[in-house]
Amino acid sequence: MAGCGWLLLLLCGAAGAVEHVVGDGDSGWDSGVNYAAWARKRTFAVGDVLVFQYVSSQHNVYEVSESTYRSCDGNHKGVLAKYTSGLDKVVLGEARSYWFICEFPGHCLGGMKLAVNVSAPSSPHAAPFPPGSPSASTAASSTRSRAWSLTMVPLTLALLQFINRAIR
Ligand SMILES: *[C@@H]1O[C@H](CO)[C@@H](O)[C@H](O)[C@H]1NC(C)=O
Repeated sequence: MAGCGWLLLLLCGAAGAVEHVVGDGDSGWDSGVNYAAWARKRTFAVGDVLVFQYVSSQHNVYEVSESTYRSCDGNHKGVLAKYTSGLDKVVLGEARSYWFICEFPGHCLGGMKLAVNVSAPSSPHAAPFPPGSPSASTAASSTRSRAWSLTMVPLTLALLQFINRAIR
């Protein structure tokens, strides 16, 4: 997102990471929701964020291994991270599978579990710099975003002018 002027903040933001509210606003992270169906309806890319909303006295979020996800076995060997705030934002930082369960007794067995596959970012703007070539890739990236700004700034100005005329 480097190189975005304030004018382009909205446009740049729209092209960046996506926040996925787990279960959407209706149910959030709760019992009795089919999270496999929820996950099937969307795609997850590196840098996206999962937002878990729940009552912290009734639920929690454990990131677990695949086998713990399957067994719901709370022996905690397969627990990678614990979230308990009730409003947890989990950054999906890598292109891999992530597994989450609620660790309250019986909840995972009752179906309160979520698996997502995270894919590599599709846009070059969101791609992390390849290791070993920081300066080259920084230069390439700033050239790219300058070129991008050169096309987006006139477009944005034209749009603002258009809106300005429309509301007068
Ligand atoms: C994730 O990908 C693996 C391998 O392609 C697949 O077996 C699994 O069903 C996928 N899981 C989800 C939740 O899409």
